[in-house]
Amino acid sequence: MSELLQIGSPNERPRPPKADELNLKFSDQAVKELEGLKTHYPTLKACILPALWIAQREYGGFLSGEAIAEVAHRLKRSYAEVEGVATFYTMYNSVHKPGKHKIEVCTCLSCHFNGAFRIRDYVTAKLGIRHGETTEDGMFMLEEVECLNACDRAPLLQVGDKYHGPVDEAYIDNLLEDLRNREESTVVQMADQIVQCHLETSERVGKVLD
Ligand code: FES
Repeated sequence: MSELLQIGSPNERPRPPKADELNLKFSDQAVKELEGLKTHYPTLKACILPALWIAQREYGGFLSGEAIAEVAHRLKRSYAEVEGVATFYTMYNSVHKPGKHKIEVCTCLSCHFNGAFRIRDYVTAKLGIRHGETTEDGMFMLEEVECLNACDRAPLLQVGDKYHGPVDEAYIDNLLEDLRNREESTVVQMADQIVQCHLETSERVGKVLD
């Protein structure tokens, strides 16, 4: 079985909580943000994408079954509908817990010609993880991704909302060291940045994570 198929293994899919187990975890800030977002869209269905970003932040970077159920509950949609959206887009972490930092290595054409697989293999050797895996300490996840649309910076990788490229082994060493010393999860931080982008200035009730 290919690695990509393994990632989507049914055994690892989040399961919806039963109705009487629903445990809402959105903070007051998140509830206010969602209320603001609802006014931007003609229907609650249209609000699923930004609501999932709120959930991804509130649930520590991972859209568990509980997170998806909370979005479905707050938007009055079915679990299946929200899960369908969350699992369709790879920017949502709905299958694997991504770790504190997700390292996305572009292995598309330009990056491939400029050493992407060498970079991927270097990260694998340093961290002991392959595509779709998270380190045991929960610090890093590695993913190979398609073109990130910055081919002039090949070989390129993305961590949180930042692009890094062109990278070499020395750059990777410094980057991993820097990430290990960061308090903030870049996965959570990126989710927050995207939520803030969806909100009007007057609706930004929380501190933007930097
Ligand atoms: S091929 Fe890597 S950013 Fe386009």
